[in-house]
Amino acid sequence: MSASRRPAAVIVLAAGDGTRMKSDLNKMLHRIGGRTLVAHALLAAARTETAHVAVTVRAQRDRVAPHVSEVWPDAVIADQDEVKGTGRAAECALDALPADLTGTVLVTYGDTPLLTTETLLELTAVHEGAGNAVTVLTAHLEDPTGYGRVYRGHDDTVHGIIEHKDALQARHEGGDLAHALDITEINSGIYAFDVEVLRASLAKVTTDNAQGEKYLTDVLAIARADGGRVDSHSIEDIWQIEGVNDKVQLARMGKELNRRTLDRLMRESGAIVTDPDTTWVDAEVTVGRDTVLEPNTQLLGATSIGAGAIIGPDCTLKDTEVGDGASVVRAHTELAVIGPKATVGPYSYLRPGTTLGEGGKIGGFVETKNADIGAGAKVPHLTYAGDVTIGEGANIGAGTIFANYDGVAKHHTQVGAHSFIGSNSVLVAPVTINDGAYVGAGSAIDGTVGPGQIAVARARQRNVDGWVARRRAGTRTAAAAEAALAARGGENTQDDNTHDTDSTHDTDTKGEGATA
Ligand code: UD1
Ligand code: CA
Repeated sequence: MSASRRPAAVIVLAAGDGTRMKSDLNKMLHRIGGRTLVAHALLAAARTETAHVAVTVRAQRDRVAPHVSEVWPDAVIADQDEVKGTGRAAECALDALPADLTGTVLVTYGDTPLLTTETLLELTAVHEGAGNAVTVLTAHLEDPTGYGRVYRGHDDTVHGIIEHKDALQARHEGGDLAHALDITEINSGIYAFDVEVLRASLAKVTTDNAQGEKYLTDVLAIARADGGRVDSHSIEDIWQIEGVNDKVQLARMGKELNRRTLDRLMRESGAIVTDPDTTWVDAEVTVGRDTVLEPNTQLLGATSIGAGAIIGPDCTLKDTEVGDGASVVRAHTELAVIGPKATVGPYSYLRPGTTLGEGGKIGGFVETKNADIGAGAKVPHLTYAGDVTIGEGANIGAGTIFANYDGVAKHHTQVGAHSFIGSNSVLVAPVTINDGAYVGAGSAIDGTVGPGQIAVARARQRNVDGWVARRRAGTRTAAAAEAALAARGGENTQDDNTHDTDSTHDTDTKGEGATA
């Protein structure tokens, strides 16, 4: 198929009310695969490399028009007036395009999210190759209810389209089109037109029909009557022409889009998807070769995953970048960067601004935010790390809290390279732990710790002899103490009495108390 034939313009109709959605949000702005319906339509149109994309808007214009401009800044916004119907919508778009436009103009819908650029280019090529005035994209449906029907003459050429409601009326009134309801070839609503034919024909379209609207479909019979060639191009893949009219269809189309995305990732990118039924991947996500997506994984937004990584089970990654060979298990992440060969999870919560260096670790029940964690550094268990820079190779003990908020403002904490923070410490920001320093377990640190120092900030241990015998006499504990003391000759040892964390006389202090 010659992909070189690009249309002169593509018109995307997006002015409808979409009342069947039963929503406060306009239909065009509902999302599947992480993108709005109208964004899917716009990107399919723009990727034909046409010079002009025009979008007709009316319902919720104040929300739809800015969104269209955000998705495709070059799109021409055309406002539809109070005259209703697809024909009027196309006419308003034509008026917004250059008056001297020539060649092929395509018309598509903003609510048909699975239509591909390839199909639009194919339609353009068929249309131009046959020298048609109009080419309508059609499909054969078992149940054509609701769709416009393509009716043909005895010579089998396309004579026109009759809307479902008008076909109902024709059945009662009799005549040539009395059997139109039985036709199973339907109008997809996607067409290629010669732009001059479209302009001239629309000028002749009236609102004389069951819905009192200006139908774009009437252009076919008018163009034919004016001597133009009107033909059809049939599509097998009927998902591509299915529109979203209600929330049931939204879910159905979302599921099919997901299936197509996963197929593409497996076939083209070489990803391994263990369970496609429970894996959800947005349209823009990239996944590298031999990366495994385990069950119940959601990859959302602008997420990108390198090669040879393992993601899941039970992960939600949004706008997250994951390096080659990393492993992310049972995690929820957003706006985070996970370096190559790093490990995350199980049960980790990475909030915006988390960066984990190569080979680093964020482990179980750890929450991070604005945390720049260096290569090979480990935050393995039960930690809150907010507003922190952690140097390479540092080890943060279990239960460490980076207390970043003083009730008024957030403050930053710095932990130097290869430093150790003892378990159950609280680092009260702002605070700096220099390179190669230790913090003793259970410390509350609010001052700088220099390179090579250990900081211990906790009450000293005090042992009281005979306390159990005096205060818990007659208990099993007292009996156990008595037996143990008897075995060592009735006295506590020197060791029991001198447990000491004073760093000035440590032989091998237990002060660091880190976890691994
Ligand atoms: C239309 C076709 C029908 C076809 C069907 C395929 C007409 C008259 N009928 O019917 O033959 O089988 O699509 O799905 O064209 N829109 C506007 N302005 C309007 C009305 C609609 O921009 O005044 C837009 C809508 O936002 C939507 C598209 O046009 O994107 C289709 O409108 P819709 O009302 O769904 O058309 P159907 O009645 O389904
Ligand atoms: Ca529709």
